[in-house]
Order: sequence, then C-alpha cells, then structure tokens
Amino acid sequence: MVFLLRQGFLGMRVCFGWRKFIIFVTLVFFLTHFLSVLELHQNPKIKDPHQKKNKKFGHLVFVPAAGEGLPNRLQCKGMKALNKTHISASSNISNGGDGIAFVTVFTVYKSSVDARASETTVVGKVSYNKVERSMAILNTFISFIQLMMPESKTIILTDPASGLPLTRNRVTVYPIQGDYSRDKLMLQRIRSYIDFLGEKLVESRKPGQKISHYIFTDSDIAVVGDVGHIFSKYENFHMALTFRNNKQQPLNSGFIAVRGTPDGISRAKVFLEEVLKVYSTKYMKASRMLGDQLAIASVVKSHASFDEKTFSSHEPFLEDIGGTSVLFLPCEVYNWTPPEGAGQFHGMPLDVKVVHFKGSRKRLMLESWNFLNSSSSHDLSDMLCLVLSSGRTKYDF
Ligand SMILES: *[C@@H]1O[C@H](CO)[C@@H](O)[C@H](O)[C@H]1NC(C)=O
Ligand SMILES: *[C@@H]1O[C@H](CO)[C@@H](O)[C@H](O)[C@H]1NC(C)=O
Ligand SMILES: *[C@@H]1O[C@H](CO)[C@@H](O)[C@H](O)[C@H]1NC(C)=O
Repeated sequence: MVFLLRQGFLGMRVCFGWRKFIIFVTLVFFLTHFLSVLELHQNPKIKDPHQKKNKKFGHLVFVPAAGEGLPNRLQCKGMKALNKTHISASSNISNGGDGIAFVTVFTVYKSSVDARASETTVVGKVSYNKVERSMAILNTFISFIQLMMPESKTIILTDPASGLPLTRNRVTVYPIQGDYSRDKLMLQRIRSYIDFLGEKLVESRKPGQKISHYIFTDSDIAVVGDVGHIFSKYENFHMALTFRNNKQQPLNSGFIAVRGTPDGISRAKVFLEEVLKVYSTKYMKASRMLGDQLAIASVVKSHASFDEKTFSSHEPFLEDIGGTSVLFLPCEVYNWTPPEGAGQFHGMPLDVKVVHFKGSRKRLMLESWNFLNSSSSHDLSDMLCLVLSSGRTKYDF
C-alpha cells in the first residue's frame, strides 16, 4: 500500500532532491496508515502532513479513463465498459480456483489509547469506525476471491493473540507465533510466510497429499481474473513475483505465488529465508515498509544479472535465483494499482487479474465491491471502468 505513495515521493526526490523530507513524510505516513492491519494509534497527535498538502476525498472522484484509444486497453463510456474484459465472473476460471489457496497476513492491535479509533467513515450506506473498516477491507478481499475463484481457499495468518473475529466459508484463520508489533510487521510477515511454508512442506511430503498452490498477497487487493492459471500455463517455476518498470523498486511484495509441490515449497522457503536475512542485516534501518521490497530486489539482483531493460518488459520471464526458479510476472496484469497503474501502464490491460488498492485507495476497494454487488446489470468490466476512471485520485483511507 504505502508502496504507491513511496513511488510518488521517489519521483519527487528525482525531481527536487527532497530526500530528508521524503524520508520524514514516508515515516509519518507509515505511522498513520498500514496495510492490511487494524491500526489503532498510540499517539493521536501525529498528523499526516500529506493530508494537509493534498486533499483526500471521502467520495469517489472521476477523471477521464486512462488508455483511451489504445489497443488492448479497457475502453469505457462513463461506468460502462465497451470491452468485456472477462466473461461474467467465475464462469470460465479453470477449476474455479480449486487447488489454490490465497494467504494473507492480518492482525489486530489492541491498543486502547487512540483518539482516532472512533473516527467514522461512511461508504455507501454503511458507517465504519477504523476497526470495522479494516475488517470490511479484509471481507471484501475474501468476497472478490470467492466470486472469481469459488473453489479456492483463503488463509489468514495472524497473531495468535489477535482473536480475529472472522467466520466465513472456505476461510481459515491460521495463527502463527511471532512479533507482530507495528515496527516489526513487515519482517514478521516474511517470517510468517516462512513458518507457514515450513508447515506446508511437511504436509506436502505425506503420500497421497493433494497439491495446493499458495498465493501470498496483501489483503487490499481485488482478484478480478484467474490467477491460478499461472501454475499450469508456466510449468517450470517454483515461485512467482511481480515486477514493474521502476528503478528503485522493480519488485513488489504484494503478490508472491508458490507452487505447492515439495520442491516448489522448499525452494520458495529458501528464497524467502534469504530475503529475511538480507532484510534483517541490511534494511532494518531503512524505512520499515520499504525493507522487504528492497531485500527482495537485493536478493534477486545478487543472483541474476539484469540489465536496465529487463523490468521494462511486458512479458513474464523466468530466472534462476540461487537455485529457485522464479517467474516474474508484470505488475500491470498481476498487481495493477489504481494511481500509478492508470498512468504508468497507460490504462488497464484487458487481461488484468489483480487490482491492488495500495495506500489511500481503500475506499475505492469498498466502493468497487458495492458497485459490483449492487445491481445485476453491473458486471466486472463496468466495475473496472469505475476503478480506472478514479485512477489517480487519493481517497481518505
Ligand atoms: C474495445 O472496444 C473498443 C470500442 O468499442 C474497440 O474499438 C476495440 O477494438 C475493443 N478492443 C478489443 C481488443 O476488443
Ligand atoms: C474458457 O476457457 C477455455 C480454456 O481455458 C477456452 O478454451 C474457452 O474459449 C473459454 N471460453 C470462453 C467463452 O472464453
Ligand atoms: C451483496 O448484496 C446483497 C444485497 O443486494 C447483500 O445482502 C450482501 O450482503 C452483499 N454481499 C456482500 C458480500 O457485500
């Protein structure tokens, strides 16, 4: 989430050289917003300077949809899609996602000293406090998955102490011991992935075990296409990451797919262990939300010699990273983000599969779901027009 904002700021750094300012703003921003986590602030006095500079909106704001006239980009007329990007939801997804499990880390902070905890936000007809709106995002994440890939499972890795109030079909709350405090969360996230893979590795070696592939994601994403097909379409990879044409941060940690064979699981685990090591030795003092992406990029670059142009490709490619076969998937399809995506990717590809509502775009995630669910005449392509048309707008949460 914060990722996107960092992109904006890194851009500013390039333009103006406001390095110190950026680090400060990035840190403060991080204190007030955090991905996928119920955030109850201990210090209500911290203000978000960003909020003063840029107006954020408590309602959807529409701009012309990016990518107009471009081939293979979604064309919209208002909220009506001129191209059907997908057949109606779930009708043509291989096995409906059978054999796929989405895995996300989500935790609840039980801090009681928070002046802002009772702040309410209204989306549609529903009013949410901060905790409720984070739960709404988690539930919307699950709803998109279950609509698009009804046979898939969702696993929520969480602090055993968090007592996550969640009961939905095909969803498992999976406690993993660890230090989930805010300043350790990105590190803990990788640890939780590793511990989880360790447990699944043991299971996967039992005879007769059905293979389940794992897709680790942030919980502020909407699955809008068949992401499970990668496991059959590209056969020779252990794990997949998403890349984009961005020098400082070519790799995003919001989507990591792992093949559920013993070999896939153990290779992915080795890769993440190396990321964890690099993170905890080199990047702990970087900003705490930058660390994992920097560490992933560092590990990848230490094993493969990429030239400048590698990440400007639009096509998936395979690379051996220290014995782990890694499939690199383009963010524009597997990790499309409303703000940067609309500009950087020149609109929305017709085969977009994952929309990532990073940073202050979470209102758009809930509004999109409400739009899709509100009437039978709204289909997924129309909803994507809604997302695309508000592409560069920053919302209030
Ligand atoms: C998408 O729709 C537009 C407008 O109807 C059309 O011109 C374009 O050819 C369509 N694109 C594809 C790939 O079907
Ligand atoms: C559904 O998927 C199958 C196999 O992936 C493909 O051959 C077929 O054309 C698709 N159907 C439609 C209506 O797109
Ligand atoms: C979708 O809309 C219906 C009413 O039209 C509502 O009952 C249901 O709870 C909604 N589902 C979700 C997941 O929001």
